[in-house]
This record gives sequence, structure tokens and C-alpha cells, in this order.
Amino acid sequence: METITLRLFRGDATGGKMVDYQVKTFPNMVVLDAVHQIQAEQDSSVACRWNCKAAKCGSCSAEIDGKPALMCKTQVHECAGSTITVTPIRTFPLIKDLVTDVSWNYRMAAKIPPLTPRADVAGKPFNMQQIDVDRVQEFRKCIECFLCQNVCHVLREHERTDAFFGPRQMVRIASLEMHPMDNLNRREQLRGEAGVGFCNITKCCTEVCPESIHITDNAIIPLKERVVDDYFDPVRKGLVAIGLIKKRKKAPLDSVPNDVTKIMR
Ligand code: SF4
Ligand code: SF4
Ligand code: FES
Repeated sequence: METITLRLFRGDATGGKMVDYQVKTFPNMVVLDAVHQIQAEQDSSVACRWNCKAAKCGSCSAEIDGKPALMCKTQVHECAGSTITVTPIRTFPLIKDLVTDVSWNYRMAAKIPPLTPRADVAGKPFNMQQIDVDRVQEFRKCIECFLCQNVCHVLREHERTDAFFGPRQMVRIASLEMHPMDNLNRREQLRGEAGVGFCNITKCCTEVCPESIHITDNAIIPLKERVVDDYFDPVRKGLVAIGLIKKRKKAPLDSVPNDVTKIMR
């Protein structure tokens, strides 16, 4: 049995420091196991958030040796060296040790109107092509770990939480906009408060997604194209003006009832 050093951030919003703990490893041990071992045997005051230990709840996000990752999906033997550094994700306010306040993400999600089918199909079973199911299914794999939000420079370096909902919410909007039964137009929101224009397609978000969602290629770029089509494409505007193509049929955002409370997950 090998012993490693787990170097954990300990502290809160007022400050903190890195603290070393010696941990005995076992085969297939993950970083979350090591944190649990410290809690059980050395210091029960260490704070970390977790639920499933199966890479499916999105709770245990952290930065492991500086790389955003799930603690329950990162094996100790995969980390280089005998000292592993674990710090909290940095984009959101720190609560304690490895736990951050990610509630901003839920507030932004609540601003996105849910699936809104046409009146004539609402409440009935949907008949959808498999290709349409597959396209939306990729986005529905999101486990809300917010690792993508953590690495997005618009949120992390520029702190523009006032202007950009972030890649996770782009995935959410894409899952709705590309749903063949949805009848709502979210492009005004995308261009406005959701701030899709702030993304400059660096793809950092895609690189860290534990569900391998192609965030930029499959969600953000198609959403940008839709906004450009509607607001900035002079050729399209001309074709609409002379009647060669039709205006979009979907209802605008302000047609959604104010009491929409159902949030698609
Ligand atoms: S591709 Fe866009 S959303 Fe993703 S990290 Fe870069 S700027 Fe942020
Ligand atoms: S899109 Fe990927 S990285 Fe972002 S919250 Fe969802 S699962 Fe996590
Ligand atoms: S504990 Fe659920 S994703 Fe890690």
C-alpha cells in the first residue's frame, strides 16, 4: 500500500491555506476516496460536496493539480507525482474548503423558458425522428457539474456573470431550441441577456466536460448561427422581404406566460 500526500485547500471567503495530509492508497482509489479517508481518520472538519460517487450528480467538481475535474472520476494513480493538489473551482464564491456557492447557475437556468410545444401537440405523445432524438439527447446528458462554467474565461477571468449565462446554459438553450416540438423563439434572449456573443469559441468548456458534450461545436456555434440568421444576415432579410423564404414561425419570447415555472432538467 502506497502513501501519497493530498494537499487540500482549507479556508473560506476570508482566506485560507494549503494543508498536507498523508493518505494510504488502495487499488482504483479516486481523489474523493482520499478526501473521505481524511474526513474519517484525520480531520472531520474538511468540507467537500458529493452525492453519487459515480460521476453522475455533478457535485464533486474541483481543481485537481490545477485541472477542473470530478473528484469521484479521477483516479489517484492517474495523477502525476506523489503529491496531489485539490482546490475548489474558482469561478464561484467559496463557502468552505472545497465547497463553492454555485446557485448563480440555477438563477440563470430559471430565466430560460422551458419546452413550449404548439397548442395542437401539447400534452400529446411526441413522434420524433431518431436523428432529432439523438441531437437533443447529447445535451440532456449534462450533469450540471459546472466545470465548463468554471473554465469559461468570460465568467472566470472577466467575471461577466452579468452578461453571459455561460456554456452550461447554452447547452440548456440548445436542448430546447433544437427540440423539434418546441415552438418558442429564444434568439432574442440569446442575443440579449444570455449573451451568446460573448463566447469566442475557445472550446475550453468542451475540453473539461465529463460527459463529453460537444458544447461549442454542437450547441454554441449553431445557436450563434441562429442569432446571426435572424439579426445580422442581410441576404436572408432580403429573401424574406421578396417572399422567397418565410420568416421564422416560432413564437417570440414575450408570448410565454409569466407564470412559467416548470424548469426542464
Ligand atoms: S468556447 Fe465560449 S463558452 Fe466555452 S469556454 Fe470558450 S468562451 Fe466560454
Ligand atoms: S455541459 Fe458538461 S461540463 Fe458543463 S455542466 Fe454539463 S456536464 Fe458539466
Ligand atoms: S459525487 Fe456525484 S459526480 Fe462525483
